Amino acid sequence: MKLALIASRSRRQCLAALAGTMTLPGAGWGNTRPDITLRFSHVVAEETPKGLAANRFKVLVEQRSSGRISVQVYPNAQLYGDLDEMQALQLGAVDMVAPSLSKFGRIGLPEFELFDLPFLFDNLEAVRRITHGALGQKLLAGLQRQGLVGLGFFDNGFKQMSANRPLLEPKDFIGLRMRVQASRVIAAQMRALGARPVTLAFSETRQALATGVVDGTENPVSNFWTQNMHEVQSDLSLTDHGYLGYAVVTNQRFWQSLGTPDRELINQALQEALAFANQMADTQNDRALAALRQAGTTRVHTLTDAQRSRLRQAVQPVQKALTQRIGPRWMKALEEVMVNPS
Ligand code: LMR
Repeated sequence: MKLALIASRSRRQCLAALAGTMTLPGAGWGNTRPDITLRFSHVVAEETPKGLAANRFKVLVEQRSSGRISVQVYPNAQLYGDLDEMQALQLGAVDMVAPSLSKFGRIGLPEFELFDLPFLFDNLEAVRRITHGALGQKLLAGLQRQGLVGLGFFDNGFKQMSANRPLLEPKDFIGLRMRVQASRVIAAQMRALGARPVTLAFSETRQALATGVVDGTENPVSNFWTQNMHEVQSDLSLTDHGYLGYAVVTNQRFWQSLGTPDRELINQALQEALAFANQMADTQNDRALAALRQAGTTRVHTLTDAQRSRLRQAVQPVQKALTQRIGPRWMKALEEVMVNPS
């Protein structure tokens, strides 16, 4: 529906109309009429690291401003999805989004795709050498080029592969159509495995798996479980082959329109919500895996070290092949951080 509406009216009119008219129940604080309403849109379910972070942020902002600042959270791509959330943010039709780091290449920031390099990170500590360090700040500063302000990073976790067969060896991927996020690095990863990458919006993934438009996909278990992908995928292979994380982004005009005390209040609440999300991320993925095992709809496969290293070998050329895409200076900076974890 949204896309057809956009086609029939000017995009700015349509996005403004959609943003202006939709309010969720429970927004606001008692009888206090908010001076500021912050609209936070995201594409995943509430029982996920991102869903929990957004709701914690809402509670902290509304409590600390005594309802003067209201945060309206729109989960599950209710308001905007992968295809239009960034543009809606740039147009000011929404005030905050937290896309996956894999989705910034599409708006002219391919350097963010360094996070998609397969088997780059052995654990979340390795990721945080970037997200909590100078390189992470440099990446966020680049958002200014797009009229945006990067406020921070947080984790979902490591991605697993799913299909209607076990994916334990590179040969298991041959010929599969695999749903991917809009990242050239992830597309190259799938091609290196002999699969065909199919870029689709997150909200369309389960349906595409159910109808056979695609055969498989990759995601952390919390996304896989909360989107009920287990109902349409018979096998989940615990590859831990790549990282999925997020950046919280706001619109420069909105951010500058705030008074300093409000900006500090919002930023402080956000940093606490992101720290909370990072604490919860592993738990949310572990809980989802336990629930999935309990459901018994999907066979769960743990790879041997030998199988994992054969996968790692198969995708190893991706790093060199995508150096131009990400940017040689970013790749050099990445190497320095990964080699000298000071
Ligand atoms: C995906 O598109 O698979 C994920 O980026 C969704 C999300 O935001 O976690």
